[in-house]
Amino acid sequence: MTKVIRAGTITTASETYTADILIEGEKIASIGQNLTPPGAEIIDASGKLVLPGGVDPHAHFDLPMAGTVTADDHYTGLKAAAFGGTTTVLDFTSQDSDDLGAVLDAWHAKAAKAAVDIGVHMNITHFTPEVARQIPHLAERGVTSLKVFTAYNGRLRLGDGDIFQVMRIARESGLLTMVHAENGDAIDILIAEALAAGHTSPEWHALTRPAWGAVEAVLRSSALAAQAQAPLYIVHMNAAGEVDQLAYAREHGLPVMGETCPQYLFFTADHLRRPDGAKWVCSPPVRSAEDNARLWQGLADGAIQTIGTDHCSFFFDGARPILYEGQPVAIPGKELGRDDFTKIPNGLPGVGDRLPILWTYGVRAGKLSANQFVALTSTNPAKIFGLYPRKGSLAPGADADLVIWDPEKRITYGVAHAQHRTDYNLYENWELVGYPEKVFLRGELIVDREQWLGRPGIGRFIPGQPFASIL
Ligand code: URP
Ligand code: ZN
Ligand code: ZN
Repeated sequence: MTKVIRAGTITTASETYTADILIEGEKIASIGQNLTPPGAEIIDASGKLVLPGGVDPHAHFDLPMAGTVTADDHYTGLKAAAFGGTTTVLDFTSQDSDDLGAVLDAWHAKAAKAAVDIGVHMNITHFTPEVARQIPHLAERGVTSLKVFTAYNGRLRLGDGDIFQVMRIARESGLLTMVHAENGDAIDILIAEALAAGHTSPEWHALTRPAWGAVEAVLRSSALAAQAQAPLYIVHMNAAGEVDQLAYAREHGLPVMGETCPQYLFFTADHLRRPDGAKWVCSPPVRSAEDNARLWQGLADGAIQTIGTDHCSFFFDGARPILYEGQPVAIPGKELGRDDFTKIPNGLPGVGDRLPILWTYGVRAGKLSANQFVALTSTNPAKIFGLYPRKGSLAPGADADLVIWDPEKRITYGVAHAQHRTDYNLYENWELVGYPEKVFLRGELIVDREQWLGRPGIGRFIPGQPFASIL
């Protein structure tokens, strides 16, 4: 089917101009003036922006945690992403065995119901000679990024020597190492002390995971990457000092890149002190207004390359069902930690919120240009994870993933708008100006205002290309 998106203001990471976009099947065929092929469906975008579909580099679906499972799976979470203008999302797979091929087979089975396009990062949480042997073969299956952890001792953490070795193997194979940067040793001691003293409320989640541990882990990981001569990507950056360390590493010419998430730009540990503070429990924790401000500055001045969501949703009260697609659904969630902050499942909803929230409170607030917004939320993640120019670009030959964005649409946002399968939204009652009007996935209209036109399984696995860009 041929379509023409007529007279929209095309907004990419580097340009803003008015033109028509011709879509042939799943691809952008051409961009130009007055494109009128016979028989084409014409979609008027005058007065609207046309953006490349968002690329979210960091989300978790169908992830078992803390005796429950995330509220969103690969259908519900990715459908929510679509409503928010995101058409490609990178999930993570746990390393449930040392047979990485079997791990990927199991992940593909779960991700088969994806509602937009999807890729996957491989967690490396158990490093053995056999795992070392298998890592170089991951790229043959389209997996080109590995996540390691400097926290969660005895569960997910690797020692520094193992991280160093993973980085070297990754470099040789054109893979990117990603790091969750916190100090697992200090955290474990602080948690034990807090619990022994009877501190059980959500604010202790932040008090036992101090920013200095994250700062130190960013510098340590960057220094390991320097010694391994390997690229590094720091996920979910949350503290001012982390941005300083990232800037330091980059000033020294190291190939280190960083990602932050909306929760670290808008919320602080004060939110954890609210009666419903468990809603904000994620790891690393939300911090202070000074940290928020330094992260914004890092986005504006180019120290930080991407904004992901770390979407990892749970119910606030998993004993009370919500209606999802007409069916009652209740999944145990944050209430599991009512008497002990360490039992609160870690993570927040956000995959659908990212673009609308950042548009109003980033672009319209004057903190980011529209082109920076596209770069941070679509083009840069696509480049870093080997999906560009197929994803993250509006150019002939790219997948026709695009968003017609109404810059004047006003809504009072919240759980009623967001399409996540959970019972709360962090941005309840926030006033938004600017919202997706139509969303196309590989040329197919999947969201038309409030209407869902997609289906389970419409999303496709998009293999990453190794030796991707270092930004
Ligand atoms: O609390 C969070 N962010 N849960 C997801 C796991 C992670 O470390 O990204
Ligand atoms: Zn993490
Ligand atoms: Zn995460």
